[in-house]
Formats: sequence, C-alpha cells, structure tokens
Amino acid sequence: MIAKKEKKIMKTILIAGGAGFIGTNLTKRLLNEENNIICIDNFHTGKLKNIENIKSDNFKLIKHDIINPLKIDEKIDEKIDEIYNLASPASPPHYQAAPLQTIKTNIHGVFNLLELAKENDAKFLQTSTSEVYGEPLEHPQKESYWGNVNPNGFRSCYDESKRCSESICMNYYREYGTKVKIVRIFNTYGPYMDPKDGRVVTNFIIEALKNENITIYGDGSQTRSFCYVDDMVEGLIRMMGTDDDFTGPVNLGNPEEFSILEFAKKVIEKTNSSSNIINCPLPHDDPTQRKPDIALAKRMDWKPEIKLDEGLDKTIEYYKKIIDYQI
Ligand SMILES: NC(=O)c1ccc[n+]([C@@H]2O[C@H](COP(=O)([O-])OP(=O)(O)OC[C@H]3O[C@@H](n4cnc5c(N)ncnc54)[C@H](O)[C@@H]3O)[C@@H](O)[C@H]2O)c1
Repeated sequence: MIAKKEKKIMKTILIAGGAGFIGTNLTKRLLNEENNIICIDNFHTGKLKNIENIKSDNFKLIKHDIINPLKIDEKIDEKIDEIYNLASPASPPHYQAAPLQTIKTNIHGVFNLLELAKENDAKFLQTSTSEVYGEPLEHPQKESYWGNVNPNGFRSCYDESKRCSESICMNYYREYGTKVKIVRIFNTYGPYMDPKDGRVVTNFIIEALKNENITIYGDGSQTRSFCYVDDMVEGLIRMMGTDDDFTGPVNLGNPEEFSILEFAKKVIEKTNSSSNIINCPLPHDDPTQRKPDIALAKRMDWKPEIKLDEGLDKTIEYYKKIIDYQI
C-alpha cells in the first residue's frame, strides 16, 4: 500500500530584509517548504534581482521601509505566524555611509515589527550580530559575555543599535509576553551576497576573479570565522522552532578560525588568480578576533555542516556567473 503523502501545514511568514543576502536564501528555503512568504524590503542594500524571478502564488513582495509602521501604508490581510527580521545594512561601508538610517532601522524598525508580532501573536526572530561583542576581551565569545563596544565610534551606529534591538525584544517579551528569539550572527557568506557589499569574502573573491590586488587591512593576522549561508538559514529556522520560553540570544556561526591572510591565500589558490596581496591601515574599531562559542546552538541540535572549502567553491561559482571578469 502506498502511504498517503502528508500535507504540510503552511505558515505565513514575514521576512523583513527578504531581498538581501541571507533574506533571499531564507525566502527560497521557506518557500520550498510550502510556506506563504511576505517579503518586506526597502532595497537599501538588497536587490530586486535576487527575488524578482520567484514565481509562486505563495510569495508577496512589499516595498517598505520598516522605520515606518506597516499598517499605515501597507495592507497585510493574512494572519502572520512568524516574523524574521533581517532588515539592516550589515556591512561596515553600508552602515557607516548611513549611520542614522541604520540606527532608526534597528530601533524604530524593530519596534514596528514587534508591534506587528504582538498584534498577530506571531513569533519574532531578531538577527543581532557578533558585533555586539565589539573588540572582545573573551575568546571565543559566549552569549553570557557582555562585550567591549565603543559606544560612539564609527561602528557604534550598528553595534549599539543592534544591542538596543536585543533590549527592545527582551522588553516586549517581559512586558507583553511576545514570543521573541534573538540570534547573534557571525560572519556569513555565500550566494546572493551583493558583490559590492564590501565584506571580506566578497571583496576577496571579486578581486581574485578580476586578478586585482587583494587588500588586507593591517597585517592580516586578525582572525575571522566564516559560516556558509545554508548552515545559517538552517540555524535561523531551528531557532524559530524552539519553545516559546526560549528567547536566546544564541550565537550562530562557524567556530573554525582563519587569519585574514590565510583566507586571502585560500581564495587566490581556489580562483587560480594572479592577484597580489597588499596591506592597508586597519579601519576604526576593527575587531582583532571573533569566534563564536556555539555550545548553546548545539542544544538546538545545530552546528555548521559545510566546510570552508566546499562553501567557498559554491560561492566562487556563483560569482563567476554573475560578474564580468577577465581571466
Ligand atoms: N551576513 C553576515 O555576515 C551578518 C553578520 C551579522 C549579522 N547579520 C545580520 O543579518 C541580517 C541580514 O544581513 P545580510 O548579510 O543579509 O545583509 P543585506 O544587506 O544583504 O540584507 C539586509 C536587507 O535589509 C534591507 N533593509 C535594510 N534596511 C531596511 C529598512 N529600513 N526597511 C526595510 N528593509 C531594509 C536591505 O535592503 C537588504 O535587503 C542583518 O540584520 C545583519 O545585521 C549578518
């Protein structure tokens, strides 16, 4: 006897920042799992081309800036079950070019989405960042570490507003019982990251593919850990699925550590590039090391599965398809 295929229950999921790098990957995965997706984006850093070819009746795109309340100028008829908030400029060049907009996004925007979550009795997942640890005095960083952040430096528009977003979430949880989840994302890379985004993985790959000089800030001894986006998306979904009384924050990232110099050499080798490595002065408040302690995430039965070599190969293939470069 052939077993009947069980019909999945569809959820209505709102993804703010759904046209960005992680948002596009999350949108595609959740659509594949038969959910209704409402993507909200103001295209500050996200790209319409990431999502415009999605042909599904279960997908709705609303161009909207989350700084403004949603109900006023946008109509959402469905009851929302889950909200993922990924809306925020994420790379230092982007947030430093629009510091006040970044602060408003992470504060007013988070208030607006939490109000929506409260009205809909929806679960709300906030993507915070490893930047809340600033220049960490503990290594690796556990969630219990409060960080070492310059409150008024060039990165503070991002670091401090993300820290405040965590506080807003926890106070909605305490005051209204809103079902909040906080994840602290560490360096993530993969397809759909804007080639001009300005983050280290994209910069190095694009420079290597174009045989241009690869710029390293400082001597390259600062370390980073890199998480492939499929692992990150899996972690976000697992976190959303945890019990209502589990708020986090939870670190999501890959604890395997590489120096920036080592990473640049790997990219050059993989792309067969003739690029040279050049050194520039370190930017303001650039952390010297970052590595997540993921013991808490492991309790959700999550850990990164994709090794840097495999993830880099996939990412390089993606960029080869989307950029013009000369061998
Ligand atoms: N990628 C990483 O390594 C990383 C690391 C730490 C934290 N994060 C966090 O994860 C989230 C997603 O990051 P990403 O790498 O996909 O960045 P991204 O810039 O590719 O995506 C962010 C998306 O949010 C949109 N957005 C920005 N401000 C908005 C606003 N006011 N209203 C509506 N939409 C807005 C952008 O247009 C973009 O589509 C961000 O909140 C970021 O802070 C990412």
